[in-house]
Amino acid sequence: MLSEVTAVRYVTPLREGGSMPGLVEADDHRLYVLKWSGAAQGRKALIAEVLAGELGRRLGLPVPELVRIDLDPVLARSEPEPQIQDQMRASGGVNLGMAFVSGALNFDPLCFEVDPDLAARVLWFDALIGNVDRSWRNPNLLMATGGLRLIDHGASLIFQHHWAGSAAWPGKPYDASDHALLRSAGDLKAVDEELAALAEKALPAAVASIPEEWLTDEPGFADAQAVRDAYQERLTARLAGPRGWLPTLPGAEEAGSC
Ligand SMILES: Nc1ncnc2c1ncn2[C@@H]1O[C@H](COP(=O)(O)OP(=O)(O)OP(=O)(O)O)[C@@H](O)[C@H]1O
Ligand SMILES: [Mg+2]
Repeated sequence: MLSEVTAVRYVTPLREGGSMPGLVEADDHRLYVLKWSGAAQGRKALIAEVLAGELGRRLGLPVPELVRIDLDPVLARSEPEPQIQDQMRASGGVNLGMAFVSGALNFDPLCFEVDPDLAARVLWFDALIGNVDRSWRNPNLLMATGGLRLIDHGASLIFQHHWAGSAAWPGKPYDASDHALLRSAGDLKAVDEELAALAEKALPAAVASIPEEWLTDEPGFADAQAVRDAYQERLTARLAGPRGWLPTLPGAEEAGSC
């Protein structure tokens, strides 16, 4: 389960993200990057963030803590921009928060070195969840004290947008050609068995951490538990070997410069 906090202060919008996430202070006195449940990207992006993020952290990857943030839309009063105000007003109730990583820089593949074993683990994870948002153009990786952090998994698990055709997803190959860590990653096969076993074990807890409120009215499903079962089933099928979706990495090439 995710911890539950209440937003007490809207600090500022983070202008960089397409979904216009906001920085908020919660009643536990910590700062969180808040992803709006009323954003155009919708709840499905938040479900992907939670399921992928909770799974990734259980694989030992550095995903900042995720929480449920209860938001009173009255906080919108302190935001001058009408577009953001509208988004806040549409987001009363449960939203997603990620612990704010202070002093973090956005990752640049040409400027930062990443340990080959960690890079391989991140790439394996992205291949599992089908994450299209870890390209060198938009890596969704932060560099901070303590090293790399993985953020923004909202564009993964694409099968959830079309359940009727999702039976084929477990075998779908992962295209790693634009991946931000392509040049850093060591051997994926060396981490494959270990991560697949860990993921299988971690999956039920990750699925259980999706807030119930985001699963209740999914068309074609009897109830929230049936939707959870469907996520569990698709990912379990993808984890079952042979994992033909794992990409084959190119040999090391001359690196560019910062
Ligand atoms: N936990 C965090 N700590 C510090 N900064 C963060 C954190 N999460 C996000 N950011 C900053 O906010 C930016 C936008 O966040 P994020 O990528 O999650 O939003 P998005 O709207 O989903 O973005 P995108 O444009 O990639 O779809 C990041 O690039 C980063 O600079
Ligand atoms: Mg992003």
